[in-house]
Amino acid sequence: MYRTHTCGMLSEKEIGKEATLSGWVHRRRDHGGVIFIDLRDRYGLTQVVFDPSICKEGFHLSEELRSEYVIQAKGKVRKRPEGQENPKMTTGKIELEVHALRIFNRSETPPFEVDQETEVKEEVRLKYRYLDLRRERLSKNIILRAEMVKTIRDYFYREGFLEVETPILIKGTPEGSREYLVPSRLYPGEFYVLPQSPQQLKQLLMVGGMDKYFQIARCFRDEDQRGDRQPEFTQFELEMSFVEEKDVRDVIEKCFIELTEKHAPAKKFTKPFPTLTYHEAMSMYGSDKPDTRYDMKLVDISSLSKGCGFGVFEKSEYVSALPIQKKYGEVTRKMLDDYGEMAKKHGVGGLAWMRVGEESGPVVKHAKKEFIESVVEKTKTEKGDIILFSAGNFVQATEPLGAVRSDLGNIFQLKDPNVFAYLWVLEFPMFEMNKGGEVGAVHHPFTRPLEEDAELLKKDPFKARAHAYDVVLNGVELGGGSLRIHEHDLQAEIFDILRISKEDAERRFGHLLRAFEFGAPPHGGCAMGLDRVVMMFAGEPNIREVIAFPKNQTAQDLMLGAPGPMPKAQLDEIHIQISEEARKQLSQ
Ligand code: AMO
Ligand code: AMP
Repeated sequence: MYRTHTCGMLSEKEIGKEATLSGWVHRRRDHGGVIFIDLRDRYGLTQVVFDPSICKEGFHLSEELRSEYVIQAKGKVRKRPEGQENPKMTTGKIELEVHALRIFNRSETPPFEVDQETEVKEEVRLKYRYLDLRRERLSKNIILRAEMVKTIRDYFYREGFLEVETPILIKGTPEGSREYLVPSRLYPGEFYVLPQSPQQLKQLLMVGGMDKYFQIARCFRDEDQRGDRQPEFTQFELEMSFVEEKDVRDVIEKCFIELTEKHAPAKKFTKPFPTLTYHEAMSMYGSDKPDTRYDMKLVDISSLSKGCGFGVFEKSEYVSALPIQKKYGEVTRKMLDDYGEMAKKHGVGGLAWMRVGEESGPVVKHAKKEFIESVVEKTKTEKGDIILFSAGNFVQATEPLGAVRSDLGNIFQLKDPNVFAYLWVLEFPMFEMNKGGEVGAVHHPFTRPLEEDAELLKKDPFKARAHAYDVVLNGVELGGGSLRIHEHDLQAEIFDILRISKEDAERRFGHLLRAFEFGAPPHGGCAMGLDRVVMMFAGEPNIREVIAFPKNQTAQDLMLGAPGPMPKAQLDEIHIQISEEARKQLSQ
């Protein structure tokens, strides 16, 4: 037997009893002839004592012990001497007086200290992930993740959902990102696609009569990495038949309420979750995933801008103002310049600004006095406050100010860490113009338009709104979903607007269109990014901290060394040739 107890179990109740523990040497202290070891496993730490007057052999062997050796200690549980207790540890009142020691394995000196939560370069942490997993921060996060998954699974089972696994080797499911391809050995020149999500399959499950489906599903997207993105990630996701939008949202909202009450009980949150339409979210916060923990709202001044004297404003469809009150803190000239630069990434020439009551800033220089006065009145600003402006189409006028608002929220510490501000964002547009000037689906091509926008769909599709919804927490998009199209003809109409030809639609989604010809029920669903949800609950700044073996920012697994080159014979088998250009890069 390796152990009678774990390293987190022993307490005063066991005083006087025999116990055997196994674990890692966490810390070692030599106190004038007596050696103290904190022995560690997943469950905690126990102090074990090697005293030559009690066990000579064990003591001598214990002199060899170094950090991260794996050992077994057998002995008797005893009360720690007066004044030696550690109230911070559950095992802090006792210690194990060792009668026999076994060393299972020695350890090289680790590349970083496992017993301390010191800053370590992420590269090193990722390369030695198994050592990082031994540390408190990561092991706590992985345990929290498992517990949250259990809550989620229990919840969906209780609500009558059926857990169904869907395949990983599939045909493409278009959700906007580049797809990962897997070459086929049996069919030369043909490929499987890894799912960006089980989207089409869960819709087909509804056609198959499964009624309420859920899955904790692995998804793959070959897209640029950011703090809240990984090339492979996990969704907990569902699909339901015979439901309206509110039915789907209610199921998800109840799940988040249960998760919060169980795993983040100290956080304050509002029930039921507030809702904003996409248009409201963008016009008030300049974001479709606003952090509503603090005020500082944008103001629409489009109606004031006609004939205002400032060229950029006059010719723009929409002008938005962000009032920044003096009470929040100082906005320096450098910050204004930086924000102007940042705004260029959102497709505007810059941001205009003014300081109320002073003759400073480009707006005051160009615009009429009455305009300035009406802006001050509408934004309810006072002397010394700053107003930032962005002009363009609706998104150009609001998005850059949303980014400024978010940054100022950090700088002025307006984001209360004790609050979970959940929010539903509703009525997203059906379509958007992609960067390449092509029509794209905002959510995905299977999303159902609002019934009342059926006419718009024909006349002005960019104005048509969707039965699409996102659930947002503190400025992070946790999940998104929609009601789906279940009619063959409406689906064909949407493909038409998306300029997907009949042949193309048949080639890419023939299976779905065919299924819709055999009696598809009305249905809808949603998918939550599990990694993001756990990240928020763990209070971590990025999702790598809640994934056991994540990829780095450039999509590599530094521990396994993936991706990596393959022997020619293996490539031949799957009919793949490496181009001259790629070969050159390989040899570099
Ligand atoms: P969507 O594409 O919005 O919807 O994805 C749902 C949620 O998945 C998470 N997510 C990611 N997490 C980590 N890394 C990524 N690269 C990544 N991409 C997305 C986000 C996001 O909100 N099939 C639809 C859902 C539906 O309509 O039912 C879908 O996948 O938290
Ligand atoms: P210019 O006319 O180029 O000298 O610009 C005058 C001011 O307007 C500068 O401060 C710019 O940063 C700002 N500006 C340029 N484009 C926009 C825009 N789309 N919205 C708001 N301000 C802008």
